Amino acid sequence: MKADINYLKEEFFRKFGDRANDPVIFYSPGRVNLIGEHTDYNGGYVFPCALDFGTSLAARRIGKPEIRLASINFQGDEVIQVSTAYTALPGSWTNYPVGVINEFARKGISAPGLELLFYGDIPNGAGLSSSASIEMVTAVAMNELTGSGIDTMDLVKMGQKAENHFVGMNCGIMDQFAVAFGRKDHAINLNCDTLEYKYAPLQLGSRRLIITNTNKRRGLTDSKYNERRSECEKAVELISAHRRISNLSELTISDLWLLDKYIADGVVRRRAKHVITENARTLDAINALERNDIETFGRLMNESHDSLCTDYEVTGSELDTLVYEGRRLPGVVGTRMTGAGFGGCTVSIVEGDQAAAFMEKLDAVYTSKTGLKADFYLPGVGDGARRVE
Ligand code: GLA
Repeated sequence: MKADINYLKEEFFRKFGDRANDPVIFYSPGRVNLIGEHTDYNGGYVFPCALDFGTSLAARRIGKPEIRLASINFQGDEVIQVSTAYTALPGSWTNYPVGVINEFARKGISAPGLELLFYGDIPNGAGLSSSASIEMVTAVAMNELTGSGIDTMDLVKMGQKAENHFVGMNCGIMDQFAVAFGRKDHAINLNCDTLEYKYAPLQLGSRRLIITNTNKRRGLTDSKYNERRSECEKAVELISAHRRISNLSELTISDLWLLDKYIADGVVRRRAKHVITENARTLDAINALERNDIETFGRLMNESHDSLCTDYEVTGSELDTLVYEGRRLPGVVGTRMTGAGFGGCTVSIVEGDQAAAFMEKLDAVYTSKTGLKADFYLPGVGDGARRVE
């Protein structure tokens, strides 16, 4: 981390000059969701953890009423005027931080003049929340540099709003929550309806967490994601004509018959079935982890993927190849897609002494079947968004 901070500062001075005034350094991680997929916007449970890689931000107040934004990762620096309302720039990476600055403006908190340099090591578009990480590092920085004292849960909601209204992705609250509230070596059990949460020690013993990137760009993710949300809303509407519910997570496994009875459209019915069964699996998985029953946790991860493949249809051939080929390999306790789907990453729990063979064999079979090259990460579980220097 120290080496990264020095590098970031050096780049900051190269870009903005004025070596006499140090920038303040902030950091926000990426996240991986262990189980509980496409449940957050349905008022259900999720079980993510923050990673030990993420986005750093060097930020400095300046006297002029303008915001200078630059990134070591992305082309296209921007200079915008401090304002009471900001407009999104089509296709620009700056929409993530500016969306957050806009949320502050909507609360009547004006940004000071700022120089901002971002630097991240989360693979983009891989479903590990690189966007939420940029949003939350900006939120924490704005909160501190303006002395606003907004609490973390409200910052999370502002990050989510920035993504919903400024970027145009109708995401739930999981990603911004996980990167803000992450805790080293813990996963977080979040009830997305009440926003109550509990930390759970992530003790895998001899096993390793492995993230595998399909390296398939998630082209249509936003539109397909928004389509799934509407299908779930449709299901709520149809069920509500008979039993008043405000979200699908109010239903349990013993209510599944309601879907058969009241939802004629097979697609909408399967979407609702995924949400209800996934919610149950997530609670079962959290209980299994508490009992240190990693085998059951792994089996539930597998069932989660099957449901996302068959009922929710958000996997696709690349994720399915990684998961179904991965499951045939020795030492695999559980493996599933993580995040929105349609590409991005899988998360697997693998016996430590089989981890190297798992990566080698899966790499070969994945390339032979898809023509793509997978990337593997052995992440640690880290802390949430914060000021680091
Ligand atoms: C994306 C969204 C989250 C969540 C997941 C699916 O990561 O940003 O809010 O809906 O997909 O679980």
